[in-house]
Amino acid sequence: MDSPADIQIVRTVADLRSCVHNWRRSGETIALVPTMGALHAGHLQLVQHAQTQADRIVVSVFVNPTQFGPNEDFAVYPRDEAGDTTKLSALGCDLMFVPPVEEMYPPEALTRVSVPSLGDLLEGEFRPGFFTGVATVVCKLLLQALPDVTVFGEKDYQQLLVVRRMVADLWIPTRIEGAPTVREADGLALSSRNAYLSAEERSIAPTLNRTLCQIAADVTTGADPIVRGELGAADLLRAGFTVVDYVTVRDAETLLPWSGPARPGRVLAAARLGKTRLIDNIPLP
Ligand code: PAJ
Repeated sequence: MDSPADIQIVRTVADLRSCVHNWRRSGETIALVPTMGALHAGHLQLVQHAQTQADRIVVSVFVNPTQFGPNEDFAVYPRDEAGDTTKLSALGCDLMFVPPVEEMYPPEALTRVSVPSLGDLLEGEFRPGFFTGVATVVCKLLLQALPDVTVFGEKDYQQLLVVRRMVADLWIPTRIEGAPTVREADGLALSSRNAYLSAEERSIAPTLNRTLCQIAADVTTGADPIVRGELGAADLLRAGFTVVDYVTVRDAETLLPWSGPARPGRVLAAARLGKTRLIDNIPLP
């Protein structure tokens, strides 16, 4: 067993590939957990899930510029490499891949990966280009690390579906695993962006999850999903959310409007509290 201090930090694809190649040559399997850092208990749960799936764990920490819109928070997105290293070492993670932007996007690079339709709904509608940025960077990371398994959180449910679609469509040889959302005791989903919330906004934020739970319960007992989504949006505004992008009940596989109990459903929402945009989702029981 490696001691916790043995985590390796690599910053180039060549070094990443050489480590992964050595592990694979000795018969070990590899799991990748892609992140943008500022790691919290939600990310760490993905690492622990990965440890049940493979012998060696690679965590990538890269704040991906192509998934941020021009007016979004790329410049101020929380960054804490020292803190991330300590947390991942303590878990016994094997390798951190922390590439500079020029390694992931050399000046001559042109290629983008996009997942139309699925990537244009919901988050894609309110953050144009977001899923092209996500699909492009995840595709690069998968081809750089060639992991047997790759773990994503259900917290970003549409992202999980977009990545699954891309991996299937491009025949990328990895298995995508989803892990459940880690929440605070009051239901708020852990997120690096929760750090932006003021004390007052933090006290309002759990209404998002509470509203989703009420919608899921009502729809399951026969309430109209469209009407119930609209009422949920009004509830959020009344609670103090400043803008509601969407509150909606969708088919859990296609993200098209949910057609009823014969299909798996998911309640998804995105809303702003001041300058912070929060997203959350839960399955219909
Ligand atoms: P990031 O927001 O750092 O999230 C990294 C992974 O952690 C994602 O799979 C996300 O769904 C998961 N995650 C975040 N909060 C969680 C929570 N409360 N419970 C469980 N899992 C949680 O998502 C991204 O980065 C980026 O888009 C990325 C995939 C790394 C591509 O740049």
